[in-house]
Amino acid sequence: MAQFSLTDDLYTGSSLIDGDHHRLAELVNAFFESMQNGENGERMSKTLHALIGFTGEHFAREEAEMDRIRYVATLAHKAEHTKLLKQIVELNEMLDAGGKINVPAVAEFLSEWLRGHILAADMKFAAALKQQKTA
Ligand SMILES: [Fe+2]
Repeated sequence: MAQFSLTDDLYTGSSLIDGDHHRLAELVNAFFESMQNGENGERMSKTLHALIGFTGEHFAREEAEMDRIRYVATLAHKAEHTKLLKQIVELNEMLDAGGKINVPAVAEFLSEWLRGHILAADMKFAAALKQQKTA
């Protein structure tokens, strides 16, 4: 069964961010489970809704911290958040419309969705947060 795990390379060192990423990983895995168990669209949509809701909260928390420290790459990071949220909202719309999903492809997409963003954007932001604390 595909599982997303928060491997060592994904820890940013910020307890605020890592704690949220833990919860995101749990929600991604709950959605994977509902897909893999062949649950109906309604159940899948429920687990996906939980992921979408928490993702929105998490992004808002990160963005508040960006504004607070006047993070230099705030605009690009926020744009990336908007794109990521849109992708899962569209996945949900597709499910709601009764669309069939390709389970391995969606699992692969979501793993990369989370992993890619952490590695490319959150790592840089966490480093800036840390620097600001020690400055
Ligand atoms: Fe982020």
